[in-house]
Amino acid sequence: MNNAVLRLTDVTRTHGAAPHEVLALRGVSFAAYPGELVAVMGPSGSGKSTLLTIAGGLDQPSSGEVSVEGVDLARLGQEGRARMRRTSIGYVFQGLNLIPALTATENVALPRELDGVAPRRARAEARRALEEVGILDLADRFPDNMSGGQQQRVAIARAVVGERRLILADEPTGALDTETGEGILQLLRARCDAGAAGVLVTHEARHAAWADRVVFLRDGVVVDETGTDRADVLTEPAAR
Ligand SMILES: Nc1ncnc2c1ncn2[C@@H]1O[C@H](COP(=O)(O)OP(=O)(O)OP(=O)(O)O)[C@@H](O)[C@H]1O
Ligand SMILES: [Mg+2]
Repeated sequence: MNNAVLRLTDVTRTHGAAPHEVLALRGVSFAAYPGELVAVMGPSGSGKSTLLTIAGGLDQPSSGEVSVEGVDLARLGQEGRARMRRTSIGYVFQGLNLIPALTATENVALPRELDGVAPRRARAEARRALEEVGILDLADRFPDNMSGGQQQRVAIARAVVGERRLILADEPTGALDTETGEGILQLLRARCDAGAAGVLVTHEARHAAWADRVVFLRDGVVVDETGTDRADVLTEPAAR
């Protein structure tokens, strides 16, 4: 079975040079399938963000393979990866990375415009995504004039605009209050129910409860995975 939207095979990532090198990931394999939301949990420094940036093609593994929709990211080259990021992968960063000089609509439309979608259409798509996350009334506001939760919604809208198939979210609920955080997870869940694959990094068990599976990382290895009886690495969900 190889219809995974995301597949990591024996991925390692080393930061820095010997003798001070840090092994952020040491042989991680895992996959996410259409319709599935996978939570990644683990202590600070266990490699969660490293895993996500590699899955999103923002960083490259030291060894191992990463494929998105069956395409090996290493074979794509820099330009191909950039295109893949704009068209197939939605990324919600641990910091939000909204552009302060752009309105909510402009922030959301940007990846589409970069991909050559005509501005008028990109804006229409952006407004639809803002509507989906419940803040169409803030379409013309700048990030600095929004609450943290509203900014978070803009970041989610930017990650889902254009029907992207893989949504990667690194602590997308940040410092939000419980209710706003649950709203964000509901949006991610809905996107996955509509057919996308999602990977959600979170510290909170109650957020992981929205996921179909939880992958636990410790010191750069997968130490456990719920919904399976194997404690090491495991990629195929039972019935898909
Ligand atoms: N650019 C870098 N240079 C050197 N070491 C790095 C770099 N990025 C990450 N690391 C190291 O790699 C390990 C994994 O970091 P990572 O950011 O993936 O952890 P994390 O699980 O996301 O932690 P947190 O929960 O605090 O966000 C850590 O030991 C970290 O210090
Ligand atoms: Mg992190």
